[in-house]
Amino acid sequence: MKQYIKTDEWNIIEEGFVPHYNKISESIFSLGNGRMGQRANFEEAYSGETLQGNYVAGVYYPDKTRVGWWKNGYPEYFAKVLNAANWIGIDIRIGDEVLDLHHAKVSSFSRVLNMKEGYLQRSFTATMKSGKEVRVTATRFCSIADDEACAIRYSITPLNFDSEAVITGYIDGDIRNQDANYDEKFWESVYSHAEGNSAYLVLRTRKTGFDVCTGQQLFILQDGQPVSIQPVQREKYVGGSAVAVLSRNQETIIFKYAANLSSENHAREALAGNCRLVLERAAAKGFESMLKEQAAAWARKWEESDIVIEGDAAAQQAIRFNIFQLNQTYTGEDARLNIGPKGFTGEKYGGSTYWDTEAYCLPFYLATAGQQVARNLLVYRYKHLEKAIENAVKLGFSNGAALYPMVTINGEECHNEWEITFEEIHRNAAIAFAIFNYIRYTGDEAYLAEYGLEVLIGIARFWAQRVNWSHAREQYVMLGVTGPNEYENNVNNNWYTNTMAAWCLQYATEALQQVVATNPERYEAILQKTALDVKKETGQWQHVIKHMYYPEDEQLGIFLQQDGYMDKDQTLVKDLDPAQRPLNQKWSWDRILRSCYIKQADVLQGLYFLEDRYDQDTIRRNFDFYEPRTVHESSLSPCVHAILAARLGDEQRAYEFYLRTSRLDLDDYNNDTEDGLHITSMAGTWMSVVEGFAGMRVRGGQLQFSPFLPGKWQSFAFNIRFRGNVLKVKAGKHGVNIENHSGGDITVLIYGEPCEVAAGATVQLKHGNLVN
Ligand code: BGC
Repeated sequence: MKQYIKTDEWNIIEEGFVPHYNKISESIFSLGNGRMGQRANFEEAYSGETLQGNYVAGVYYPDKTRVGWWKNGYPEYFAKVLNAANWIGIDIRIGDEVLDLHHAKVSSFSRVLNMKEGYLQRSFTATMKSGKEVRVTATRFCSIADDEACAIRYSITPLNFDSEAVITGYIDGDIRNQDANYDEKFWESVYSHAEGNSAYLVLRTRKTGFDVCTGQQLFILQDGQPVSIQPVQREKYVGGSAVAVLSRNQETIIFKYAANLSSENHAREALAGNCRLVLERAAAKGFESMLKEQAAAWARKWEESDIVIEGDAAAQQAIRFNIFQLNQTYTGEDARLNIGPKGFTGEKYGGSTYWDTEAYCLPFYLATAGQQVARNLLVYRYKHLEKAIENAVKLGFSNGAALYPMVTINGEECHNEWEITFEEIHRNAAIAFAIFNYIRYTGDEAYLAEYGLEVLIGIARFWAQRVNWSHAREQYVMLGVTGPNEYENNVNNNWYTNTMAAWCLQYATEALQQVVATNPERYEAILQKTALDVKKETGQWQHVIKHMYYPEDEQLGIFLQQDGYMDKDQTLVKDLDPAQRPLNQKWSWDRILRSCYIKQADVLQGLYFLEDRYDQDTIRRNFDFYEPRTVHESSLSPCVHAILAARLGDEQRAYEFYLRTSRLDLDDYNNDTEDGLHITSMAGTWMSVVEGFAGMRVRGGQLQFSPFLPGKWQSFAFNIRFRGNVLKVKAGKHGVNIENHSGGDITVLIYGEPCEVAAGATVQLKHGNLVN
């Protein structure tokens, strides 16, 4: 745990340069706009510890899987969103010295991520080996208003000398992924061109053949006058260079407009030409207007998704940081894209899609970005249905059974680890649950007929084939799985998986009934397409539901995580020597698998999803049993515990769990922020506030809240969209305020009581623990 980030409500601030923290800060200060993103690397040369990272959404490479002993069913490749051309480069050579903070004495260093307006600013004074002192301020952003464009303003002022300098703004395409399995380079050069102050580089990915054009326009100004720029070009490198005289206390300003365009969105032959148009548009607007546009676009995002906390600046900063990074990662404009666990902030997890999207991210985008954005997340899986069916065939399933991948970029399974990922078939249930959750929230029943039902049929068919009849039990069982708790492998009858499988079968049956009633034509078309024998197959689904086996411990009154769980040594986490934690770094894998310790919510994940089925006592008994055995070594875990603790009225613990997720990256809680940010768990942080502290639920088409005020907070407020309404919900010491900003009148339940909020009106309610 490190605490070097200064507290501020709208900014992430680092003061002083600690090279040892550089890779952590490169993650924390990352920029993105949904279309591309990058780590907060320096513009000028840096020969110290760094992880250079630029990523273009949807552009990946199928890196060959590395495995000692190949077995049938292993994925052929591990997909990676590629580290792409570095477009920020600005080399400064003063006399015969290169400006490089690794070799300079650095003072007055600061890095500020302005979350309100969406830009990164870095300033420092560097004393070079020769004693020459320069002051630099660099500001840059990835535009969300024009999402293929980015801009940098880099100003350099000599403080104690006059000297000739060579300034080179460049694009470097000679890039490798640090996590390449065979240390290969993934890009080939297709076209490069530098002319005057413009430069273009088109690179093609090996195997997948994506073309990406990265371009720049460079302007160097002294005293408002442009300095002449000469093109530079060599293998996988283009740019522009100028010789300028730097005069003491005179600022030289470099403007660099850059763009990244991919063949996913442009015809290959038009890439360079279109890149030129984006750059000309950016340069014509100019840095300051682009920045204003950026601030305005971010103001709209904040209007939709901000959470305002009074009385706790650190919590305020943290929640905004989470929301900011989520909005930088996914904008929902393109149904081909999804949310990698690290977004655009690092290489780990390869930028691929995991169950994280459906299980953790969907609620955030549903409530803040709106229906179409959330719908695109679902349509992404619809588009992968054929591949999910092929994936199931590869594993021995038939008749249109669909097994969605645990890790994917294009619908194909591409995980790198046999033993856990492969058996986490529970991801299929999260995808079905997301359809239910989306329709429950939006009321968009038409989605079922249009897309949802086909997915549900494929998933139901998978579960119906994956179970087997146990003659011993005279029940259906599910053998050889890994549940959400990845500290178990190849277990029998994981309660969560069995429960969610039966839930999926029931939901698919109901979905069929619904579509036949509302859209019989489409229903017939789907039956034709899927060759579903409704009577026979749903009959079998019902048989499975009725006879599914669920492990329980009747004496303890709990659901058992899996068969045999109680045979394990039951020493609680609190009694473990802290020096043994985190287990995944201190214990052998074998020891972890034999232990009772739970990496992340498992039974509790099921109670969270299906909470309406269980009474308070059942939830409490299970929570009280499993929480003391949970080590929360996945960032996805504490949010589920926070929401359940809140539901159980344990406000103190709900707040403690929330604290573990909200500043996870800002304080490098798990010592792994340098690999990238935990983007998907950031959505869990949002859920902890909205579903946990505010108790937001949608039941029977109605929005409900039952807020409490955590810790030292004076109040908290958030905006949500719900079925055409935009509501601002504020919980303060004296009660709850609901403002209805648009749309029609709405009735919401507050602490179980109906409360009518007319369009444009605000209602205030005093209740429960909020009344002083
Ligand atoms: C978690 C998984 C998750 C993955 C990607 C793992 O550590 O256990 O549930 O899908 O990370 O975030």
